[in-house]
Amino acid sequence: MRKRKRLLALVLSLIVFSCCLGENKFEQEKIAAYLNENLDAEHRALDLIGRMGLDEKIGQLWQANPEEFIVEGEIDAEKIREVIVDLGVGSFLSYAGEGLHELQRIAVEETRLGIPLLFGMDAIHGHALYPGAAVFPVPLALSSSWDPELLNRIGEATSSEMEATGVRWTFAPLMDVARDPRWGRIVETFGEDPYLVSELGTAMIKGLESEHTMACAKHFAAYSQTIGGRDYSPADISERTLEETFLPPFRSAVGGGVSTVMTAFNEIGGIPCTANEDLIRNKLKEEWEFNGFVVSDYNSIQMLYNTHFVAESPGEAAKLALTAGVDMEMVSRCYIDNLKNLVDSGVIDEKLIDEACFRILQKKFEIGLFEDPYGSIEKTVLNSEEHRSLALQAARESIVMLKNDGILPLENVESIAVIGPLADASQDQLGGWTGEQSEENVVTILEGLRNVAPDTTKIEYEKGCDAVGKINRKDIRKATSLARRSDVVVLAVGEPSNYSSEPNSRAFLGLPGEQKNLVEEIAKTGTPVIMILVNGRPLAIPDLIAVADGVIEAWFPGEEGGNAVAEILFGRVNPSGKLTVTFPRELGQVPIWYNHHLQKNWDHETYGKRYVDLEDTPLFPFGYGLSYTTFSYSNLGGRVDRDGIKIWYDLENTGEVPGTEITQIYIQDKRASVVIPDKKLCSFKRVDLNPGEKERVEIAIPFERISLMGRDMKKVVEPGEFEVLVGSSSSCIMLRGLFELADLIHIGQ
Ligand code: BGC
Repeated sequence: MRKRKRLLALVLSLIVFSCCLGENKFEQEKIAAYLNENLDAEHRALDLIGRMGLDEKIGQLWQANPEEFIVEGEIDAEKIREVIVDLGVGSFLSYAGEGLHELQRIAVEETRLGIPLLFGMDAIHGHALYPGAAVFPVPLALSSSWDPELLNRIGEATSSEMEATGVRWTFAPLMDVARDPRWGRIVETFGEDPYLVSELGTAMIKGLESEHTMACAKHFAAYSQTIGGRDYSPADISERTLEETFLPPFRSAVGGGVSTVMTAFNEIGGIPCTANEDLIRNKLKEEWEFNGFVVSDYNSIQMLYNTHFVAESPGEAAKLALTAGVDMEMVSRCYIDNLKNLVDSGVIDEKLIDEACFRILQKKFEIGLFEDPYGSIEKTVLNSEEHRSLALQAARESIVMLKNDGILPLENVESIAVIGPLADASQDQLGGWTGEQSEENVVTILEGLRNVAPDTTKIEYEKGCDAVGKINRKDIRKATSLARRSDVVVLAVGEPSNYSSEPNSRAFLGLPGEQKNLVEEIAKTGTPVIMILVNGRPLAIPDLIAVADGVIEAWFPGEEGGNAVAEILFGRVNPSGKLTVTFPRELGQVPIWYNHHLQKNWDHETYGKRYVDLEDTPLFPFGYGLSYTTFSYSNLGGRVDRDGIKIWYDLENTGEVPGTEITQIYIQDKRASVVIPDKKLCSFKRVDLNPGEKERVEIAIPFERISLMGRDMKKVVEPGEFEVLVGSSSSCIMLRGLFELADLIHIGQ
């Protein structure tokens, strides 16, 4: 029997069962089954549904925005009581801290059944919207660590900070695969490779899904496949691209136990994701057996009516979304205002509402909301020492050294000129999805240098110019004169945080404002320049990279970012981060990612260059990042066994300092029944090595990772020849080996 039918049948039978229970055993004991914490979540949810009226069930399907009930900074008590008691709202968006206590009290004490509210908030890199919380590097930075364990720990830390403010649900992480550097939300992604996004995102989900809090895999699906990098644009993609690129991370999230999934704003081939029954009900819920609940994005049900124009009315929008499988509506009021009429008039079967309500309630029980509705409002957890040191470790691992002419690490410098609009910019350094955070909690690059540099080093600062806007000649003169009288310049340039995140896309990939002039003027002074990039997307700035002696990609490195940058500049920490997004030379190369379906045998002699006016290669490829040491690769061996491929090779630190290599394994399927990417990442490992130390790296690659979607869109591994490519980036391949598979292997059918 298919899962959904099974679920509905279970709903009905257990409603009857629980009513009987109610009348007999538990009535006698004066405790309703849903309040009995010894019963499992499924039974409790079914018992509760059996006691609920239609209005109460519909209320649970709505997540309201409390901002709508705030007048002059104060919550309108009467209105909010109406929403909680009369409408029976199930959830609130972005409301945290002590204020939520009263709302929860009303729900628990003043509603008929005392169903607690679920408070949900975006915690994209830590619980950063909440003042005083730990702010970790942005996800694109975190992905450069290629460290699932780190992501898991950040998930756990975030979960504990959320809970300390009463928030039990976050809309993170993004499982969207980055496709276009212009798109503002690329900063929220884990990069361009579906496998890497799956690994990192799922590790974070496991951390966020502690006993008491829930994660949300978003945005389902293909939200990142933009047109022109513009946010909310349609995803015009083939079924193959959807299956090969955009769905695997969500499949992985479901396998990793994610509790909720958010639908995307965009349409795919004319069908808005929030009304896509094939995607939500058939694929996610039935085929993948997702047993959590699906939430719309902000107003995205209403958008079916007033943005996509596929619904005649908000009521029809509600019908489309609920039928497609969206269980909870975020903010807009299509469900709350229309579902009752739709049921009463026979347009919608009440069973659909029961199913949605069941999914939501089951999760509320699972996270213990009924037992502990207020959470542990325990402020000391916020930005604790432990979380700060995790933020520091995260920043150290996230930073990518892009260029080093030998200037780094800094030695014997007597004076440093710290220049640039991002050098002492505490709020901008934190990146998007961050609330107001106090300056004392943020270590800027300038402060980090002062903390880490030897006492004898003279450090002076000039901003030079603002991140955006016109340059002032006087400021530039002050900056160049400081540069001239210093041994070295640390030049922190990049983007203000509101140049990325939702919906801040860009049409240019250069430095904003007139920062380019600043870099050029400083470079002209002849003092060596180390450029620190603080930004949220790949930038196409080959000319500026060329004039710098060293370049560090710091991204938005979070509250401890300044210390991490300084430690790397002084060689206290050896950089290990590697890019998870391709850096183009020019905007004209976009879209560009490493595993395009490119014509593999394109050679310049036969076909000429791909662009007559530019190299085809990127400025920095996927997987690229420098170290202060060197690594050598040797002795590749391998074998195919029942479950997949095992490979091994030796990795040695051949330099003079300890270092971490992120070693990458790609597979190239030589010939297939359909066109597939040139190569794809199948595994990776962070390996710490002391100078002279050699380690045998052993990697197991399950067949699933080298599979493809056949012509019938079924997942298989086709027989034939494969090449294993082992390297330090997608374009720096150190070892190659061939293997052959004799039989067709079906995956997971
Ligand atoms: C974003 C989501 C976010 C939601 C709630 C939307 O605009 O697309 O990613 O979770 O707002 O803040």
